Amino acid sequence: MFNLWGGDAGSVFFDGIKSTQMPVYLRTRGIIVDLLKTRCQAHEVVVEIGTGNGVFIKCLQTVLPSDAKLVVIDINSNEINKNLASLPRDSNVKFHFGTIDDWLCENKSAQVVVIVCGTLMWFPQTQVDDLFRTLSTCGRVSHLCISEGVHPSITDNKKSIPGVGLFNHYHNYKYLLIKNGYEIIESRLFPPPIETPRGHTYWTAIARPTR
Ligand SMILES: C[S@@+](CC[C@H](N)C(=O)[O-])C[C@H]1O[C@@H](n2cnc3c(N)ncnc32)[C@H](O)[C@@H]1O
Repeated sequence: MFNLWGGDAGSVFFDGIKSTQMPVYLRTRGIIVDLLKTRCQAHEVVVEIGTGNGVFIKCLQTVLPSDAKLVVIDINSNEINKNLASLPRDSNVKFHFGTIDDWLCENKSAQVVVIVCGTLMWFPQTQVDDLFRTLSTCGRVSHLCISEGVHPSITDNKKSIPGVGLFNHYHNYKYLLIKNGYEIIESRLFPPPIETPRGHTYWTAIARPTR
């Protein structure tokens, strides 16, 4: 993962999608924004895994209370540094260079809402499985919010489908969430919002660990 996203590849990717990002995000991630606005508790930390160029967190900053606790995690130090430089010094967003596992270790008492969007489709299935299990068993996650590209035929497959010509994967998130002890409290399936040769749809869901 560090090899794939850690250097210039990440920045090239983000420059390519910059102009289409915001309208797509606002349309497909609405249930996540609503959850954070209405059901997120004041003591909870909102943690985004794989923030990339930070567009979604900046969008969240405009709708959440100014004292909301926001943490963004990424393994791409270039993007972390660019994000840091673009936010005011007194911003309530904290950046973590690394993975959610080491952030959870360093922040042992934090109660969290986890967001992960457009990131898990670049993980192999075993890594998504491990992540879902870690988050459902750590006892500190109230909600897991995801919005990812999915393949129309994935509902019948427990095994993820490899992306064509890319190193991404289409996972059966519903299967992986339930297998790892989550209850899906809300979900929406979207048609492809942008012209894409990948032909995937987007699935956005809010899940709650039941363990
Ligand atoms: C396609 S971008 C998604 C960006 C953004 N979340 C969005 O809404 O479009 C994937 C991001 O995840 C980061 N990433 C990949 N593996 C990661 C991991 N294990 N932990 C944290 N970030 C990771 C990459 O560096 C990259 O910035």
